[in-house]
Amino acid sequence: METTLVLIKPDAVKRRVVANILDMFESHTELEIKQLKLMTLTFEKAYEHYGEHDGKPFFEDLMQFITSGPLYAIEIIGENAIADVRRLCGATNPLVAAPGTIRARYATSTNRNVVHSSDSIESAQRELKVFFG
Ligand code: CMP
Repeated sequence: METTLVLIKPDAVKRRVVANILDMFESHTELEIKQLKLMTLTFEKAYEHYGEHDGKPFFEDLMQFITSGPLYAIEIIGENAIADVRRLCGATNPLVAAPGTIRARYATSTNRNVVHSSDSIESAQRELKVFFG
């Protein structure tokens, strides 16, 4: 079994599309939601998660955005949870995200792309600790 972290970001919460996004994960028969938590990140918590992007051109905007309001942190498990979840989310840039994916449906730009998902087993372990201890 793999375990992965999903964030439903503040843009999705503000636009009230959280239930639609959760439905896409719940409808996937190989995936199971284990934990779900509504929280607003402090700068310090956001840095624990996104610190690896420090110095990149989009970093300041990313930090401002991710701390701008409540988000949902979700632990999802499944045999191929990391790849399955990333397939459902679609590409980081919604303009190239496959039709029907979460980002193709709901994201408005690369910087406002409604979801985050772990990209590897190692990232998932690290990121789950940040959000669930
Ligand atoms: P996420 O999967 O949450 O990981 C880092 C985030 O930075 C990413 O989604 C985007 O919202 C944002 N971002 C902005 N520009 C870029 C970029 N050029 N490459 C990767 N991520 C970017």
